[in-house]
Amino acid sequence: MYRISQLAEKLGLSRTTLLYYEKQGLIQGQRLDNGYRSYTDKDLQRLKLLQKLQAGGLTLKECQACLDEKVERSILVERLRQLDEEIAQKQKSRQLLAALLGESSLTDWHETLEQQAPEAHLEWLIKQGFDEKQAMRLKWLSKDMNSHEQYMHDFNLVFKALERWGPGSEADTLKAFELLPHKPQEILEIGCGQGTATKVLAATVLAQHNLANITAVDNEEFALQTLMNTLKEQGIGDRVSTVCANMEKLPFEPESFDLIWSEGSAYIMGVNNALTAWRPLLKKHGVLVLSDLVWSVESPSKEALAFWQKEYPDMTTAAQRIEQAEQAGYEVIDSFALSDESWRNYYAPLENRVEALKEQLQGSVALEDLKRELSAFHSRSGEFDYQMFILRVCY
Ligand SMILES: C[S@@+](CC[C@H](N)C(=O)[O-])C[C@H]1O[C@@H](n2cnc3c(N)ncnc32)[C@H](O)[C@@H]1O
Repeated sequence: MYRISQLAEKLGLSRTTLLYYEKQGLIQGQRLDNGYRSYTDKDLQRLKLLQKLQAGGLTLKECQACLDEKVERSILVERLRQLDEEIAQKQKSRQLLAALLGESSLTDWHETLEQQAPEAHLEWLIKQGFDEKQAMRLKWLSKDMNSHEQYMHDFNLVFKALERWGPGSEADTLKAFELLPHKPQEILEIGCGQGTATKVLAATVLAQHNLANITAVDNEEFALQTLMNTLKEQGIGDRVSTVCANMEKLPFEPESFDLIWSEGSAYIMGVNNALTAWRPLLKKHGVLVLSDLVWSVESPSKEALAFWQKEYPDMTTAAQRIEQAEQAGYEVIDSFALSDESWRNYYAPLENRVEALKEQLQGSVALEDLKRELSAFHSRSGEFDYQMFILRVCY
């Protein structure tokens, strides 16, 4: 015979729990003359069996049913299914915690967060210690806060040696320039990189009339320095000034420019956002020229979709971009797909550079990403274009 405190000690349970079990009819103590409750060895063993059933994750009610009758398989099957679900969920939580600690890749997590909550993602990255520029690079390029530094090191090693950082050509820049309805005087170039388009614009306006000013903006200081050095060497730097700034927070007064030029850079802040954010900087009837990667077929192949939905989830067709531009208050003066030469100008040197660095950057995530991009380019087969849009502010 056991007192309740003895039973509690033997089972590792509290008095309160035993009293609750008694209330549920799982055990039945005998009230002694002195008022104490007393329990038999049968009660002890019944509760031990109960504990063994509880170890399978069954609820008290389910255990009670199993104690008193033949075990019902369907209860066990359902409990097993729930447990498997919980385990899978816990595995996911574990993987995420391990990835946050740098034990595995965080790419998918950053990608889905970026799609679902881009602003919260940016703010959070800044709280983790990234400055705004690096946080933006992380969102677009490395997609892993634990390996971002290494990724950018490798990425810069590839790109610093390349003049062009996106598809384009002198001929296509000139073609777009010639479509302008008026001669611009104040020109803003956004995301100029090392200035492949800036040089063409500077030489062209200089040849036409030398009153125009070009302000070239990028948030990569060394790119702006390289640009100014080249322009000085070519003797066409006089009317160009550079500003190191974030394209999302441009330090210019409204209606300062009659032309904004952006080759392969508006996507960084989202083309639709850029259309709206940059419009106030344009004078009345000012023109925005931008190039962007677009789908050129209604139903792209599975492979192309899978690649670009990850790399550029906001990619649209040219017609959809034009619709967005019109909604943002522009009229379309013209739009054309960049030439094959423009693609080659970017991807041929990139391919050579990737090949040249393959030993030095063995196992580099950045290099692997670039290889995947090169292979997407090689299997392009007319499914996507780089499209130039010439848009005029309308009222
Ligand atoms: C794809 S490259 C295109 C560069 C150049 N237009 C060309 O075609 O070679 C994008 C450029 O945008 C710049 N960039 C990236 N994020 C930026 C930001 N938030 N503000 C300003 N420039 C940015 C990069 O440094 C890079 O030079």
